[in-house]
Amino acid sequence: MRTILSRPFTYLFLLSLIFLTIIWYKLQEASSSSSPPSSTIQQTEPESTTIIHSKTLGVASKIYVLNLARRTDRREEMEKLARAMDLEFTYFNGTDLKEEKVKVSMERVLERVRWWRSGHRVNKTAPNKDPENVEFTWADDVGSDDYLGEVLKGAELWTEESLPDTLSDILPTSAPALPLEPVLDLYDENGKVWGTNPLRLPQLACWNSHYRILRTIADGPDTTAIVFEDDIDMEWDLSTRLRTMWPALTNVNWDIIMLGHCHSKEWFHPALEGSPFLHKSKHVLCTHAYAVSRTGARKMIRYLRSEAFAYSRTIDHAFQHLQSRGRINSYSVQPPVVVQTYDMGSDIIPGRTNKDRVQWLEDSALERIQTGREMV
Ligand SMILES: *[C@@H]1O[C@H](CO)[C@@H](O)[C@H](O)[C@H]1NC(C)=O
Ligand SMILES: *[C@@H]1O[C@H](CO)[C@@H](O)[C@H](O)[C@H]1NC(C)=O
Repeated sequence: MRTILSRPFTYLFLLSLIFLTIIWYKLQEASSSSSPPSSTIQQTEPESTTIIHSKTLGVASKIYVLNLARRTDRREEMEKLARAMDLEFTYFNGTDLKEEKVKVSMERVLERVRWWRSGHRVNKTAPNKDPENVEFTWADDVGSDDYLGEVLKGAELWTEESLPDTLSDILPTSAPALPLEPVLDLYDENGKVWGTNPLRLPQLACWNSHYRILRTIADGPDTTAIVFEDDIDMEWDLSTRLRTMWPALTNVNWDIIMLGHCHSKEWFHPALEGSPFLHKSKHVLCTHAYAVSRTGARKMIRYLRSEAFAYSRTIDHAFQHLQSRGRINSYSVQPPVVVQTYDMGSDIIPGRTNKDRVQWLEDSALERIQTGREMV
């Protein structure tokens, strides 16, 4: 076979290769034997050379995974992701309607929603009919991001079996006549009812799961936490992507970053200066992946437990409401870097399968695992 390079050229090439290798080794030696750099030198070093692997994706100090304790199948899938990507997940038991006590508690919440609406209808003299416009008000403390304290307030009391006497005025002593129609799930801050979907127990349970996670973050030590649902796939290099984006968020005082979303229009607002992938949220639904700051969680809790708003819609519609009305400062990663797989059925929407999947990734972590490429 004929070689492309003539013999003298080959020698020259080999010689320069050896020469370069020697220089490289000398440089390595020089840098490792030099005395430790002083702090001023350290500051000028490019950061990219000192990135240390983070088990929490580099931008948060905890990753919660919302999982129903009985869905061990989903947990195992998530553990595969954790192992392959060397991440550490903190599992958070979701609100499971299959547990009798929990079901009773969620039924109580549904009843409280009906009570609240019954007591706040605009036209109280009209037959108790649903939908009916309501007198909408937020709790007095919304807008604050102060530490919440352990005292339960507003709709946090709705899950309680019995209330202390001092709080008996919060709820009517006897249940008002309940609407015959199922409770409808949407009205705006002006109180006008505009939704037509019945609110169902699984949606209340999902609200309650995310609510409890947010409350945990709001009360806890982490200044930023990530929340994942347990049927997700993510970009293989998610950590690098997030670390590259995050500096662009330094001065925007964000509350929540939607790492995944659906039925969204997140290209609508121009990209944030410093990252083409971060946009002010426009229309975000789905709650399968978000990063939330502790102050953001404290703000959200105060809105979500306001009785006029609590459990009034699905939790993702609540997030969407809060961000679109400017109540919280939300940004979205576009295109999404975490997507839902629907691989193992939905607990909220029965019968949903992975045929419903509409979002795909550039470099899917699950695909790498399935094809044995996670060690590459
Ligand atoms: C989650 O639920 C499981 C099963 O019911 C239980 O064993 C475990 O202790 C729970 N975890 C927490 C943190 O409550
Ligand atoms: C209140 O309801 C009654 C009975 O349905 C109706 O006649 C009346 O016009 C309503 N008033 C308002 C202000 O909507």
